[in-house]
Amino acid sequence: MPLIRQHADKTSAAKAVAQEIAELIGLRSLSGKKTVLGLATGSSPLALYAELIRLHRDEGLSFKDVIFFNLDEYVGLGADHPHSYRHFMEQNLFHSIDLPKSSTHIPDGLSKDFSAECQAYEDRIKSVGGIDLQILGIGRTGHIGFNEPTSAETCRTRHVTLNAITRVDNAGFFGSPESVPKEALTMGVGTILEARKIALLAFGAGKAEIVLRAFREKPNGHCPATWLQLHPDCTFHLDAAARSSL
Ligand code: F6R
Repeated sequence: MPLIRQHADKTSAAKAVAQEIAELIGLRSLSGKKTVLGLATGSSPLALYAELIRLHRDEGLSFKDVIFFNLDEYVGLGADHPHSYRHFMEQNLFHSIDLPKSSTHIPDGLSKDFSAECQAYEDRIKSVGGIDLQILGIGRTGHIGFNEPTSAETCRTRHVTLNAITRVDNAGFFGSPESVPKEALTMGVGTILEARKIALLAFGAGKAEIVLRAFREKPNGHCPATWLQLHPDCTFHLDAAARSSL
């Protein structure tokens, strides 16, 4: 079962998770190893990325030995598109820390061959020894990454169709649900479950019901976040509002 850590607010949660990341980077670099971090986009990790930037700027935390893999990307949006997840990551983290661009990985939503792109993504994760710590948010549909309801626990990085609720929830960035891309490339649930450690971030009353389902339901594909119950080292970082139904 995932652990629950309740924080006073999302800023305190961000500080705690950023500290964990800093310690992980420090420990691994002591033994000459790179750290492999899995990242999410969306509103939940924004304060975490701001804190990582602060640790870099004010406390000298270096990311030159970190390799990054993002969960997902919209189909049809390239790096220059203001709503692509590549653009989001550049703006909210990558531009402000010390890293070679070659250490960041996000599925290519403009690929001409999605199945080859997804297989190559899996291969790249394997070739660096797997993900040490995966950051996740959770969607109202119970999605992790863009693994929408009916996603099996064994599914791998692949081309998916977004749920209508997800497109409504993400409409803020695009102006209307109709403008949100219908498809995405996402790491699979099986890919996510292979990360050695998982930190899921959820804040606000809007997440309370799905957090409750993720905990109380038996693991099932209709609420993909329930698959996290199968992971041996997963923590849900919540504020009081997101935890309120538990
Ligand atoms: C983003 C992602 C999604 C989000 C989820 C929550 O890369 O994979 O699973 O984490 O939709 O989004 P927010 O944080 O905006 O509520």
